[in-house]
Amino acid sequence: MVLSSTVCKEVKSDQNHKAIADGLLTQGFCSISDYLNPAECQNLTLEMEALEKAGSFRPAYVGQGDKLQIAAKIRQSSLLWLSSNYAAQASYKVKMAQLSNELNKQLFLGLRSSESFFALYNPGDYYKIHWDNFQHLSPRKVTVVLYLNQNWNPKDGGQLHLFAPDETTIIATVQPEAGTLACFLSGDFPHSVVVASRRRVAIPSWLRADDPIIL
Ligand code: OGA
Ligand code: MN
Repeated sequence: MVLSSTVCKEVKSDQNHKAIADGLLTQGFCSISDYLNPAECQNLTLEMEALEKAGSFRPAYVGQGDKLQIAAKIRQSSLLWLSSNYAAQASYKVKMAQLSNELNKQLFLGLRSSESFFALYNPGDYYKIHWDNFQHLSPRKVTVVLYLNQNWNPKDGGQLHLFAPDETTIIATVQPEAGTLACFLSGDFPHSVVVASRRRVAIPSWLRADDPIIL
């Protein structure tokens, strides 16, 4: 039997989601090197570049006065929330919803919504060690990060490091190569982004156990 390419794509994405669920169950994290194919990465990149040219990105740090100073010491990058008004972003958001469904089936995480954003790190930008969900207090249950950087060389820096809760021992390192997806339980792993010598683009997402916030 010949499967249509749409069916093949669905089977592949299903297998990836099952592999992610297994990784989260057994060790709390996992990475997949070909979560998106080159064409899918390219489409997301083109949409991102158009929005960047239009001036839609804003600095990642939030807060005012002292708070802003502290935030800027920890994190330097620009960001823009994904929007379903654009085809590649819409289809990525659907994938995050499908991943949430699979994780709910296998891990009973009660995931109900997801949020995703483009994160742009210019050379010299970084994200020092931090928790996405400190002491399991936040509705962010699973962190997922997709990368869009072709031909990444480990010498370029920009790696994601996952640490043990002691915030010292590195337990996993992921290169931000195009198509690679990293995934971990948000309340279990402090993590950081190493300074890169070239531009680095990522799409972090949080799979959440609450309803979407409608502003
Ligand atoms: C984040 C984050 C990791 C990465 O945006 O909270 O930790 O590899 N990103 O970009
Ligand atoms: Mn983070």
